[in-house]
Amino acid sequence: MAYGLLNNKRGIIFGALDESSIAWKVAERCFEEGAKFTLTNAPIAMRMGAINRLAEKCQTEVIGADATSTDDLEKLIDQSTEVLNGKLDFILHSIGMSPNVRKSRPYTELSYEFFLKTLDISAISFHKVLQIAYKKDAITEWGSVVGLTYIAAQRTFPSYSDMAEAKATLESIARSFGYHYGKHKKVRVNTISQSPTWTTAGSGVKGFDTFFKYADVLSPLGNASAESCANYCVFLFSDLSRMITMQNLYHDGGFSSVGVSEEIMKMLGMQENE
Ligand SMILES: NC(=O)c1ccc[n+]([C@@H]2O[C@H](COP(=O)([O-])OP(=O)(O)OC[C@H]3O[C@@H](n4cnc5c(N)ncnc54)[C@H](O)[C@@H]3O)[C@@H](O)[C@H]2O)c1
Repeated sequence: MAYGLLNNKRGIIFGALDESSIAWKVAERCFEEGAKFTLTNAPIAMRMGAINRLAEKCQTEVIGADATSTDDLEKLIDQSTEVLNGKLDFILHSIGMSPNVRKSRPYTELSYEFFLKTLDISAISFHKVLQIAYKKDAITEWGSVVGLTYIAAQRTFPSYSDMAEAKATLESIARSFGYHYGKHKKVRVNTISQSPTWTTAGSGVKGFDTFFKYADVLSPLGNASAESCANYCVFLFSDLSRMITMQNLYHDGGFSSVGVSEEIMKMLGMQENE
């Protein structure tokens, strides 16, 4: 077998909807690095069918699961360890959805029914996956669980709406569960805070085009692509990152550390003050 960073590693990848999905790129890279994994998505998303193409390419199967349903998640984890013939070494949680954003509800007029759905789908599902894996002892020692997040958890992006609260919760779950799972079985839990990326979920946010460009111009390296996010996931799933846990890791070309860039200054016409 050719050398791969993820040889002999088994995993579950949530959230590949179509070719633009970050999870899709992660699956392709994990496969190239020698990993075996199952793919999963909500039954409604699977009906679109694209995920079957990915499964064929990665020589695997798709197991449907609504990430808010503990029954579905239990079955998913049982079936995955059976199909893969062993415990899991990695899990990618790449799930986000806000009915308030979908229905363009202003932040000051949120539906609380929708808000609870946003939290359940986008954040509490992460706890559910971890709790079920913990209970079933489904992850190997030094295994790695990664969730995808966005900097709106720390700073305000008005149109990100209640997804900001979901991401803050997601990141907090990574720290809290990371403590318990680390002590218990040396399992690592981290979140990757990714640049704006052109995907179905990303482009559903109002004004996405503008804040994609803004982040690109502000970041010294420009926005991080889905492909480079996939590389970062491979690193976090690999044995090279064994001592990294309970972290929110910015993968954003430097965006999170910049106050202003010269390009933005120029755009705002401030250069005459130089
Ligand atoms: N695109 C961006 O700009 C960006 C930036 C930072 C973080 N992220 C995060 O990356 C992750 C992946 O999003 P993406 O941008 O690849 O978009 P995407 O639309 O391709 O992926 C979102 C996925 O969530 C799945 N999902 C929704 N409800 C579900 C449920 N109940 N059960 C199971 N799965 C469900 C969808 O089917 C879809 O596959 C999300 O957590 C998102 O918030 C995205």
